[in-house]
Amino acid sequence: MKIQPAKSIRGEIKVPPDKSITHRMIFFAAMAKDRCEIENPLMADDTLRTLDLVKNVGSDVEYNKGKLSIRMEKISEPISPIFCGNSGTTARLGLGFLSRLPLFSVIYGDESLSSRPMDRVVEPLSLLGSIFDGRNEASNLPISVRGGIVKHANYRSKVASAQVKSAFIIAATAGDGVSTYTEPITSRDHTERFLNAFGITIKKGNLIEIKPSIIPSFKSRVVGDFSSAAFFVTLGVCHRNAILDIKDVGLNETRTGFLNVLKRMGAKIEIRNVKNDFEPYGDLHVESSNLEGTEVLDEEIPSVIDEIPLIALLGVFAKGRTVVRGASELRKKESDRIKAIVSVLSKMGVHIEEFEDGFEVEGSKLEGAKIDPYGDHRIAMMAAIAGLCGNGVELTDPKVVSISYPSFFEDLEKVER
Ligand code: S3P
Repeated sequence: MKIQPAKSIRGEIKVPPDKSITHRMIFFAAMAKDRCEIENPLMADDTLRTLDLVKNVGSDVEYNKGKLSIRMEKISEPISPIFCGNSGTTARLGLGFLSRLPLFSVIYGDESLSSRPMDRVVEPLSLLGSIFDGRNEASNLPISVRGGIVKHANYRSKVASAQVKSAFIIAATAGDGVSTYTEPITSRDHTERFLNAFGITIKKGNLIEIKPSIIPSFKSRVVGDFSSAAFFVTLGVCHRNAILDIKDVGLNETRTGFLNVLKRMGAKIEIRNVKNDFEPYGDLHVESSNLEGTEVLDEEIPSVIDEIPLIALLGVFAKGRTVVRGASELRKKESDRIKAIVSVLSKMGVHIEEFEDGFEVEGSKLEGAKIDPYGDHRIAMMAAIAGLCGNGVELTDPKVVSISYPSFFEDLEKVER
């Protein structure tokens, strides 16, 4: 796919529903007492894998007019291994979900997912009683679960990972007593936020208490995905002739560290019409901006984790240097994202230095280039934005965007003038 530089960017865009929240609502609905309704779910490759997982163990799933209706009919043992595709959230939260059920199951993934660490969830989930086996001593998929033997435990995690935290919480709600989970730095809190509303979890700083409980039947609406909106925010800020409004964007503060980074860099961005419905959401207004370099360090990383490729791109358009450190987790995403960011931007003529835990990028001009996105949706979308704001780009594998944002290229066309 060839992307030409855009002359100007104008208009209004509504980004797709939040991926993290959709995964969670599907799992919660399959755990709930009765049928649940999820309005505006994300129907993309990753979340379809989660739907498939819950169907495989007996959930009835209906999708009609933008609404999902889910009910666990009769728990049944899957006769085949369950495919999680490219989706880390399906695999990790799925291991927590399968731990609750009195059955034997096996999950597996594509090549990228099969190389990502699973011991980080297997270790805490084993404390809750289920038995796991798998490749590399259950560190990698395929992994088998013999579930349903749930105890309670107090677990202190070394990684700030919402996937690990959520897997543990999901399993611990079926425990035989109160469990606790402590994380080193607060990661996205969609799981606790939702369960708090039913008194199932209690948050005490970085410690979460989880009471064994059954989730009541619920109806919820999924807000727009901040991480998908971030591509359009970057387009609006970096393009030299842009005014853009992005509607119905999730604004949970454990996700929006990117807004703080943008403000420090001098971006023209306004948050408008903030409302709340389990999760805060609102509209974003962005305009072409003169940016300054900044530093993003350890404490801030979990709240910007999926936006780091875009911080690198902002750094290219900023005066001076932009530094990201303490982000070694990025090497364990859908691709080794530090390597991918450095190689993609280097190909576009940018001066960027790679560190084990981040990078340092200097403000520079972008050249056109042919880019392989490493099978990573966020790298493909970052490269497309770079092409629109710089000197064009040729993407070798544009369809990877369907992991989280199937209509990405159509949405881009809507705002190009
Ligand atoms: C996610 C958590 C993050 C994020 C991923 C989605 C989630 O991963 O990178 O895209 O839905 O919980 P970690 O918390 O494991 O870093």
